[in-house]
Amino acid sequence: MNLLSSSKIDSSGTVLAPVPSARREWDDLARSVVPFVAGLDEGQRSALRPILIEDVASEYDARFLTDYLYSLDLEYTAAFRTVEAAWAVDEERHYRKFRDVVCAGWGDDCAWLADREPDFRPLEHLFEDEFSILVLCAYDELATVRAYRANLEQYDRLGPELSVWVRAVIADEAWHYSRFLDVIRREHAHRLGEGTEAIRRVRETEGVAYAATFVLDHDDAVFTDEIFDHAARIVARQLAREVPPVVPDTEE
Ligand SMILES: [Fe+2]
Ligand SMILES: [Fe+2]
Repeated sequence: MNLLSSSKIDSSGTVLAPVPSARREWDDLARSVVPFVAGLDEGQRSALRPILIEDVASEYDARFLTDYLYSLDLEYTAAFRTVEAAWAVDEERHYRKFRDVVCAGWGDDCAWLADREPDFRPLEHLFEDEFSILVLCAYDELATVRAYRANLEQYDRLGPELSVWVRAVIADEAWHYSRFLDVIRREHAHRLGEGTEAIRRVRETEGVAYAATFVLDHDDAVFTDEIFDHAARIVARQLAREVPPVVPDTEE
């Protein structure tokens, strides 16, 4: 499989053919990794575990972002609400599968998740209104695509089922990115000129210690300045486009 084909984002940041296939049932996923985990040497096992734990926690934290968004005194468009709801369902599905994999492979039931408490205060300035939130979320999803890709070699140690599934997760994240951009173009076209400044504020906020906010969960070593700069550049470029790119209808 072409590793870069999994998210179908071209070099300009346009999603060519998102395939949100992590939505189908993957009943055997957790069971399928067990023999592969057993076959890892100690170094590989301990290298993989923090990556997966990070994924479990990050995907789990999506619920806190939803709660925070709707706790704010902001008006949201119907388009935003629709995309947010679909996004939340996907992230919950990602969380559950990562959790099941960690449980099956490492015997960790992830009960520690119940202790997580978000702190959005350092990010408050990025949640001014729907437009700024969409810019933040588009950037974050694109950075996530790059991070999952960067770890593919690690995930691939867990067998073919997990290998295919994680590429489906990447496709979901690319789809989220394209949907957030799409709402910006449809609902906030008059503000596209503010895109560069909005993305600059997001990029500048990278480095804030992560506190269960879902967005900017970038403490892991896989996230580099190169990934941040690339995501910021691509989103800024996309917002500056005069002609909206064709984004395929992927509604099921
Ligand atoms: Fe996700
Ligand atoms: Fe996502």
